Amino acid sequence: MNRKIDVCLSPGLIDNYESMGKIVIVADIFRATSCMAVALAHGVKKIKPVSSLVECRQLQDEGYIAAAERGGQKVDGFDLGNSPFHYMDESLADQTIAMTTTNGTMALNSCTDAKQVIAGSFLNFSPLVNYLRKTKVDILVVAAGWKGKVNLEDSLYAGALVHALKLHCQVGGDAAYMCSSLYATAKSDLRSFLDRADHTHRLLRLGQEEDIDFCLSIDKYTEVPVLRKDGHLHKMSLNDMLI
Ligand code: MLT
Repeated sequence: MNRKIDVCLSPGLIDNYESMGKIVIVADIFRATSCMAVALAHGVKKIKPVSSLVECRQLQDEGYIAAAERGGQKVDGFDLGNSPFHYMDESLADQTIAMTTTNGTMALNSCTDAKQVIAGSFLNFSPLVNYLRKTKVDILVVAAGWKGKVNLEDSLYAGALVHALKLHCQVGGDAAYMCSSLYATAKSDLRSFLDRADHTHRLLRLGQEEDIDFCLSIDKYTEVPVLRKDGHLHKMSLNDMLI
């Protein structure tokens, strides 16, 4: 077993990691990568993750549906915010979305030399694990965190992946071991464990408790959002994804 899985706890640390030739899984559980899974599962054609409001506005002017979140709230003047329930709207089917969020979309654009970049969530956890078990390359999980800081929910997700792949990958470093140990502590009741998370408190203050519960539900969807060479996330089945 010479494959390794490692964890980058914040995009601010990404320069300390090698992503070339690896499969990178970006996790922004509350809520960007969860929203991406919902959107594509509900028929959205593709999603372009962008890092700035300016670029998102430009794409809106070009006809994209524009989704913008900052600080956990929808940005005025854009079409969508970042609640997963916004992305279940049937009117979004076959549409192309430009999305910018506080952390997740920037994290997705932080590993341009990766072999493959995937948006990870609990909503499609097992399909992604099954895919990763079939691949042969090293894996780097990038936790989106919060404004450069480490957060609990994305670290827990990273630990869940390390735990699920323990028979297929070596633990690649202390961060991966830390996250796996954290997950072992919390796995019986993620929601209770995350009662203490900063973003849980932030979202509760914003009246978004149902988003928290939904983003922690397991395996609602089978497809996985994969960043393709066109710079957009597409819904891909396991066979389509294999590299
Ligand atoms: C993020 O980018 O960290 C999240 O999208 C923030 C949120 O949705 O509340």
